[in-house]
Amino acid sequence: MAPTQAEVEAAFDDPKLANVLYHDWEAGTYDEKWSISYDERCITFAVDRFRAVAGDAGPFEHALELGCGTGFFLLNLMQGGIAKKGTVTDLSPGMVEVAVRNAEGLGLDVEGRVADAETIPVPDASVDLVVGHAVLHHIPDLDQAFREILRVLKPGGRFVFAGEPTTVGDWYARKLGQATWWATTNLTKLGPLRSWRRPQAELDESSRAAALEAVVDQHTFDPVRLERFALAAGAVDVRCVTEELTAALFGWPVRTFEAAVPSEKLGFPWAMFAYRGWQRLSWFDEHVASRVVPRALFYNALVTGVRPAPPVSL
Ligand SMILES: C[S@@+](CC[C@H](N)C(=O)[O-])C[C@H]1O[C@@H](n2cnc3c(N)ncnc32)[C@H](O)[C@@H]1O
Repeated sequence: MAPTQAEVEAAFDDPKLANVLYHDWEAGTYDEKWSISYDERCITFAVDRFRAVAGDAGPFEHALELGCGTGFFLLNLMQGGIAKKGTVTDLSPGMVEVAVRNAEGLGLDVEGRVADAETIPVPDASVDLVVGHAVLHHIPDLDQAFREILRVLKPGGRFVFAGEPTTVGDWYARKLGQATWWATTNLTKLGPLRSWRRPQAELDESSRAAALEAVVDQHTFDPVRLERFALAAGAVDVRCVTEELTAALFGWPVRTFEAAVPSEKLGFPWAMFAYRGWQRLSWFDEHVASRVVPRALFYNALVTGVRPAPPVSL
């Protein structure tokens, strides 16, 4: 159920409460909103993100996911053969419930826990891999979260985080999103375009969501700063790569437009246009733009590192 205006206001000074409210609210419709699936399309997407930053690392025995949402990253990585057994965790009980249900539907060996990434409720040196997608930018104390990640990893264990907004990327994505929202909601007030206007109650609900979004988003990252969090916690082999430049410049207005008009107006041809457009531009970004454009200008950051193994005594 959507949070009330009073709940939204109470969460303004409390990013963790805002995260629980916002993501509990989103849990039931999250997969649909973000076109998340557990088939070949998203398995390939998740495994490609993992490989883009961690190369041919793995497979791993036991993986833990922080901020799992509905399970998009770890469940698809497990289906892609990256890990055998999983633990999905999230601050939002609603998200953990959906992630566990999704895992059961897929027949995966996964347990779910409601957990804060700053105090991970698992023993020291107990997992082989820690993963997360679009979660680091929500965590208020990232130094503490990285210390926890290194604590729960076995020596030699690896972490992989993907889908984090860069500082420059977040700036242009927000500007494009705001301009698209403004243009669409104003143009659809005009006579012939009125049938493309979403009911006012739904637009008001979106505005309340946007107000919470401003609180749940705690960070954007310069790639060097993201690497520093991991290095400061003691990780080695730390590496941050970035991706999506033209794909993000195309994707954010498209996604905002989709959110601003009634979903029944956009059929299969639109979905194909959006997906194929994003795919082609991603190809260009990976094979052409990444060779000439500085990494800080791309939209998405991915980071990996390893908990050092103790020296072998001879
Ligand atoms: C943008 S969603 C991403 C969900 C999923 N990983 C995905 O990519 O679809 C971020 C998730 O992180 C969770 N989260 C936010 N702060 C957290 C924290 N301190 N500890 C654990 N999870 C947190 C939210 O509840 C939410 O489910």
